[in-house]
Amino acid sequence: MRRSQIIGFGSYLPQNIVTNDDLAEKIDTSDEWIRKRTGIAQRHIAADGELTSDIATNAARAALKNAGLDADAVDLIVLATATPDNTFPATATRVQSNLGIRRGAAFDVQAVCAGYVYALTMADNMIRLGQAETAIVIGAEVFSRILDWEDRGTCVLFGDGAGACVLQGAETAGTNADTGILSTRIHSDGEYYDMLYVDGGPSTTGTSGYLRMEGKEVFRHAVQRMSEVVTAALDQNDLAVDQLDWLIPHQANKRIMDSIAKKLNLPDEKIVVTVDRQANTSAATIPLALAEASADGRLKPGHLIALSALGGGFAWGSALLRL
Ligand code: UT7
Repeated sequence: MRRSQIIGFGSYLPQNIVTNDDLAEKIDTSDEWIRKRTGIAQRHIAADGELTSDIATNAARAALKNAGLDADAVDLIVLATATPDNTFPATATRVQSNLGIRRGAAFDVQAVCAGYVYALTMADNMIRLGQAETAIVIGAEVFSRILDWEDRGTCVLFGDGAGACVLQGAETAGTNADTGILSTRIHSDGEYYDMLYVDGGPSTTGTSGYLRMEGKEVFRHAVQRMSEVVTAALDQNDLAVDQLDWLIPHQANKRIMDSIAKKLNLPDEKIVVTVDRQANTSAATIPLALAEASADGRLKPGHLIALSALGGGFAWGSALLRL
């Protein structure tokens, strides 16, 4: 069976770090409230003029270097982002141009915080079908540009950043002991559209708008959906939760991750956490966490890893992979 192997990881975080105390100087909040309710201590914020395509390109270059590949090996770029450079064309095409690639295809995927799982699904399916050989799958966001900096209920939660993986097709035995992406699952339910959305856009106000969220509802659904979609992925592959080496959930709130760990009966040590230092970077949280845990040696060949995310839409999903 042809499967996508993950052969490189890369990431990029803007230099500017904003702490909770920095925010407390501008809005009515405190380090204590933010840490206690979310686990967040700081976030990276893109510099003026630093675009989603810039940070995505930096992460892609790092992933290619880590894979030991030149850009000309790449015939597919899938970029998960809710904060594109322009309404069109796809920001992925600018990344393609930045990397000097003139062949294959490059497109964006919009599933907000679930975007990386969606993008991985698209790239994996294209590789399995033989429509692509080597893909870069990127999550990149500058959420700082769509935050209402006067809304303390949302602006303290997000940050900017980019992460990327390189995928390459390879023949495998077709069992659950294979390396590579074993399965992906994506879901959405538009009944919840108004729970987490941006109040602008080309066909509504004509402006970019600002993020609006019913935090408690999103929290509740995130715990439920992100847990059940991991269980479904394990069941699909005849694997059990105690065979998982790592869960890399979307990083929105440490309390959401703790609740998922409890629901799945998974020890806290098996969850990769970056939200404390990076806050919620939407589609970038999962590839940023993968890159960090790979670079520091936590992820090892043969490890079984589950990814899980939920975001606006609601859109959610999971991926199960073995390194
Ligand atoms: O990526 C997917 C999208 N996002 C998420 O998954 C986020 C999901 N939701 C959450 O993480 C949590 O719901 C929040 C962190 C957003 C909020 O936590 P909460 O425990 O649900 O707090 P709350 O919204 O019920 O607010 C509790 C209190 C309120 O004050 P009163 O009405 O009790 O007097 C808020 O006004 O905390 C107040 N509050 C704040 N206080 C200080 C809200 N934001 C802040 C703040 N600093 N930044």
